[in-house]
Amino acid sequence: MSKLKIRTYPDPILKKKAKEIDKVDDETGDLVTEMKRLMREGDGVGLAGPQAGVSKRIFIIDASDGKGVRVFINPKICKKKGKQVGEEGCLSLPGLEVEIKRAKSLECEFLDNKGKEQKLKVSDLLATIIQHEIDHLDGKLLVDKVGWFKRYKLLKEYEGLKKSKEGEQNVLEKMIG
Ligand code: NI
Repeated sequence: MSKLKIRTYPDPILKKKAKEIDKVDDETGDLVTEMKRLMREGDGVGLAGPQAGVSKRIFIIDASDGKGVRVFINPKICKKKGKQVGEEGCLSLPGLEVEIKRAKSLECEFLDNKGKEQKLKVSDLLATIIQHEIDHLDGKLLVDKVGWFKRYKLLKEYEGLKKSKEGEQNVLEKMIG
């Protein structure tokens, strides 16, 4: 697999609904390897296929909980409970932090990196990351989760950051991917 790079807003691939992966094979393994590299380089805790320029339903998470990098293929959320609000960053919108309301806990089903069916119950930060990454697979970014006026302000701020390169510093603070 050739070297991939992180796609940032307004790359059109970020707006596309990603396609399911039919078969978990060596090609998927190569993609995961590339995605891990990109996530580490960006200092993120998660990365979705479209962010690497591959419009497939896959994401990886490294929540620093001692479980290493986890791979989620064709993920589906089957239950959501409660509410939480938190500041989120995104490798595809470097420099921005957006307050987002999400479910506090969830249950999801997915295939792991070996193509085996898995079910997982999570809450708090891990639940936030999973919801954030699934949004990527559905073509939704943080700026698509807020009202039009807030979106306008955020995109203006983003343009300013891109120009001034201040983004590079802010990126390191908190990044979900
Ligand atoms: Ni993101």
